[in-house]
Amino acid sequence: MRRPFVAGNWKMNLDRASAAALAKAIVEGVEAFPLVDVAICPPFVYLSAVGEIVAGTRVGLGAQNLYPEPKGAFTGETSPLMLKDVGCTFVILGHSERRAMGESSDFVNEKVLAALEAGLQPIVCVGETLRQRKENKTSAVIRRQVEGSLAGLSAEQLSRCVIAYEPVWAIGTGENATPEQAEEVQSEIRQLIGIRYGREAAESLRIQYGGSVTPANAESLMKMPDVDGGLIGGASLKADSFLAIIAAAKTCKAS
Ligand code: 13P
Repeated sequence: MRRPFVAGNWKMNLDRASAAALAKAIVEGVEAFPLVDVAICPPFVYLSAVGEIVAGTRVGLGAQNLYPEPKGAFTGETSPLMLKDVGCTFVILGHSERRAMGESSDFVNEKVLAALEAGLQPIVCVGETLRQRKENKTSAVIRRQVEGSLAGLSAEQLSRCVIAYEPVWAIGTGENATPEQAEEVQSEIRQLIGIRYGREAAESLRIQYGGSVTPANAESLMKMPDVDGGLIGGASLKADSFLAIIAAAKTCKAS
């Protein structure tokens, strides 16, 4: 049984007051949807404040990145232990906006291992660019990213991960993948996991879809058999649209 999981990636948005107000509205709103797991991922500087608001509620706290060392002379970086310390249970890793800045799957893999070591659940992002899709390279790119980012994980470690399929061409563009496009790649990801970790591990892994999810298109995406929720950017910045997407995730066909 896979519980649907919707996470809001706030990226580099909001200020202290609006972050707190949004977190409070989400904490109140999610009470209506006990069957859907929910997390919000504010910018680093607001993690503590938002962490205090969501502590003890159904809303999980996630960071948007980490540095794979426990502490030391790494100016400007944030360790997994620090994230735990302010109440994070999740961390988004390998987002395409970071891969575009030069983050390789090898480095994402180091981060995934460091997150797991610290007891954080990684949300590992993969996705192809428009050019790769047009050149029929989607499957190969996704396979490289999944295998690279998850290299060396035991089955137990994998069971603490979530994968987010986020086609780069669908992020922030208003052009979401069709439910069929999302399903095609997400079932391939599940098959890849099955080959390496066995059917049971593959069936229990949660795979989110991300890329221009809105209240209008959420239900059609969430209904697909291998879509177990969403990683939401723009539409997670307003409580009403984020909660409407959470409502739609009730229709996930978690098997
Ligand atoms: P949008 O929902 O704004 O397209 O962003 C998706 C995303 O990148 C979530 O991580």
